[in-house]
Amino acid sequence: MKELNKEMEIEKLHAQMRRCNKCHLYKTRTSVVCFGGDYHAKIMMIGEAPGANEDREGEPFSGKTGKLLFEIFREAGFKREHFYITNVLKCRPTKDNAGQIDRQPTMWEIDACYHFLEKQIALLRPKIIVTIGNTALKTLFNTPLSITKIHGRVMGFKQYEQLIPVIPMYHPSYIERNGGHYSKQKREMLEDIRVLIRIIKELVKEKREKKEKENIESYMNA
Ligand code: URA
Repeated sequence: MKELNKEMEIEKLHAQMRRCNKCHLYKTRTSVVCFGGDYHAKIMMIGEAPGANEDREGEPFSGKTGKLLFEIFREAGFKREHFYITNVLKCRPTKDNAGQIDRQPTMWEIDACYHFLEKQIALLRPKIIVTIGNTALKTLFNTPLSITKIHGRVMGFKQYEQLIPVIPMYHPSYIERNGGHYSKQKREMLEDIRVLIRIIKELVKEKREKKEKENIESYMNA
């Protein structure tokens, strides 16, 4: 898909999200949190759902947990702009209708919202997906294993003819509960980010080899 077309299609999809009232969360939301980062990014990051801060600002991972998440990524050389950031749910799930208490998304809410995530993946065609936390992992894969067992293991998400490498990582609120920057979980996350770097290097190598092959062919045929 040409870049301009792709941008228009993504904008159209974001506009559909902003109008969505497929589940009850539209009644309590302030914003529909469509995406953050850069939509030309090659890596897609998928979190769980917006919290209070994200709902207010309309930007995923813009609150305290997002700050920790991107501090960890920054240590490994990544910036927000290296990712197209989104969540499984685009609206904030709260326990009470006054919007006081955050809770995990229900299966019903995930089902209602999943078509948006599917379209985001289809339109953006990310080279790599990073899932953040259990909800994102279990939304993409039917696995009985939890994130504590499976983090850092490369999985494959099949969409049409494409198999996209997926690296499941911890949610920053889990890292925060375990001591934040001083936790073993943070060190494990940095290891998982090394897996991401390894895959990027493999993709760069593949691209270089493909280009070289094309150059050789065009030289031989000239
Ligand atoms: N937690 C998430 O999973 N996503 C956000 O955008 C914020 C907090």
